[in-house]
Order: sequence, then structure tokens, then C-alpha cells
Amino acid sequence: MSNPSILILPGDGIGPEVMAEVRKIISWYGDNRGLAFDVSEDLVGGAAYDAHGTPLHDDTMTKAQEVDAVLLGAVGGPKYDNLDFSVKPERGLLRLRKEMDLFANLRPAQCFDALADFSSLKKDVVAGLDIMIVRELTSGIYFGEPRGIFEEGNERVGINTQRYTESEIERVARSAFELARRRGNKVCSMEKANVMESGILWREVVQKVHDEEYADVELSHMYADAGAMQLCRWPKQFDVIVTDNLFGDLLSDAAAMLTGSLGMLPSASLGAPMANGRPKALYEPVHGSAPDIAGEGKANPIACVLSFAMALRYSFDQGAEADRLEQAVEKVLADGVRTADLLGEEGVTPVSTSEMGDAIIAALNASL
Ligand code: IPM
Ligand code: MG
Repeated sequence: MSNPSILILPGDGIGPEVMAEVRKIISWYGDNRGLAFDVSEDLVGGAAYDAHGTPLHDDTMTKAQEVDAVLLGAVGGPKYDNLDFSVKPERGLLRLRKEMDLFANLRPAQCFDALADFSSLKKDVVAGLDIMIVRELTSGIYFGEPRGIFEEGNERVGINTQRYTESEIERVARSAFELARRRGNKVCSMEKANVMESGILWREVVQKVHDEEYADVELSHMYADAGAMQLCRWPKQFDVIVTDNLFGDLLSDAAAMLTGSLGMLPSASLGAPMANGRPKALYEPVHGSAPDIAGEGKANPIACVLSFAMALRYSFDQGAEADRLEQAVEKVLADGVRTADLLGEEGVTPVSTSEMGDAIIAALNASL
């Protein structure tokens, strides 16, 4: 049998730097755990635009459809701000999500004990926090038609459309309930059913999926604005949150910041199972390309490393090895190793991106 395959798309800004650390860890698993992967690499975002005039070449799209998992760094940067909308770096990422049909975006917000002081919230509000946001990723206002900027009378009008079918809501609701069963068994669904018809349908369908298939899971509903407020007030009331594409974008950034640093958080975007039973999958850090520090060796690779841990868990059935990697990261943090984004304690000198990667490898070695 051939090795499981991974396509690495480092992308722009700090993407290549943080991905270099993930490559070390992938090699470590081959050398030490008998987990060899066939790794290939390609361009996405601004890097692809520079080479091919498009943020995602068709050949790259084809490769992404064929591998067992895609790992993506980050896309975008000021250099590309004035490009036409259709070739902006973000369009490459959105095309991957849409064409791979990665409808369930899992964004954990987990507060590491060693970092509880970094949150802008009080320590007791965030210590031990472990929630999972499941964001619908391939529909809603990000993709709905009609969209565009049109002439109307003597002015222009910008239009985007929020649109959800029952089956789109059903499948992401199922993902959320399945996850909840393996965690705290609670789902809170967020929409704006008080203002939007798509929200009314969302609420009805989530409730129906619950009643018919997941009555054992505790389900609540919240308006998304109240949900944002509750996330800041007492985030530990949540286990799994399921929400649409745009609300999920906003709520997951807010949830991420509760944990102290955006540089820590991974994500998995999962689609329907392939022939081999594994879901189509793309893993990426929640953070962006951080052009202000790109190329300086300052970036925190942990979000990208933890994204690979999610790949081990969700694409490669290696839950124990994912635990090992997450524990190695926890140990490194507990030992006080800090990249520049995590400074705050006195007398701590930051380590570089590659030193953080080496520290994680050392912790992995110590785990054997
Ligand atoms: C995210 C990002 C993307 C989004 C951008 C880069 C297109 O903010 O993954 O949360 O809006 O989905
Ligand atoms: Mg976002």
C-alpha cells in the first residue's frame, strides 16, 4: 500500500516559515513512528499569482482533490491589495474550500494553562477553556448569488446574498453533533432567526436533525450577537458551537483571541468521505499571513503544527499520535519557550520560528 499523501501549500507571508517547521515534524513521524507520508508542495495565493497569474493553478486544484490531506500556511499580503478581486490571494483559498466541498470548518479555541495570563480576559474566565466552533464553509453569503456591484439608477449597489439549503444545514449540523458526542455532548447553534429567514430555516433544520438523530446531545439556540457577548462573558458555558459561514468567521476570531494568541490556533476543513472512507480535508492555521513579520523568523509555528495534529486525528486515524504532538506543544509552553507573540513575562527572551520547531521535536523525542 502506498503512503498517505499530503499536499503542502505554504502560501504567502509567514506561511512558508511556519510550514518549514511542520515539515520537520512530518519527517519526525516518518523516522520515529513508522508514519511515512508522501509529501508534495505547490503554490497558492499571492505566490501562485506571482508565478502563474492566478491564485490557484488548475493543476494545483487537481492535486488537492487527489491527496489525502492538504496543509495550507496562509494567503494574502499588502503587495496584492490592489489586484482585481477575481485574482486576489483569498480567492485561491475560497476556490479550494468550494471545489473540495469542505463544508465543515472545525476551529477549536483551547487555552493552554501556561498561557492563561495572555488572554485579555481574566484568567479564571479562560483557564481550561476548550470549545470547538463548527463553521459552515462552502455556502451562505460567501458564495450566494446574486452577487456583485451593479448600476442602479444613478448610483452603484453592492450585493451579496445569504442563502442556505436544508441539506447544507443538515450536513454541517450532523458534523457538529458527531463531534459533540466525542467531547462535552453539547451543541449551541447560532444564527439571527430574529432578523433573517435563512436564520429561521437554520434553527428549524438544526432542531430537526437533533430530534431525529441526536436527541442524546444537549442542544441550545442563540442569536449570534448574543453568542458573541456570551463568548466574552463566560466562554466555558460552550462545548460545540455550530454556525454559518459569516458568523463563524467573526465568532471564531473572537474565540481565538480569548485564548491569548491567534498564533496558537489550528483548523480543519472537512468534506464528505472519499472512496477510502477519509474525509476530504484541508488543514490551516486560523491566523493570516502576518506580512509585517514575514521573513524575520519571528512567527509562531504552533498553529500550523497543531493543524498537522488535527490532520493526524481526522485524516489519518492517528488519534494517539495527535495527542502526542499536542502534549509536546503543551510541554514546550509549560517549559517557558516563547515566540515573540507570546511575550509578557519578565526576562523571557523570545525564540525564533525554527527554535520553536526544534523545541517541539525535542519534546517529541522525550515522549518516546
Ligand atoms: C478565515 C479567513 C478567510 C475567510 C479569508 C482569508 C478569505 O478570514 O479563514 O477565517 O474569510 O474565511
Ligand atoms: Mg477569518
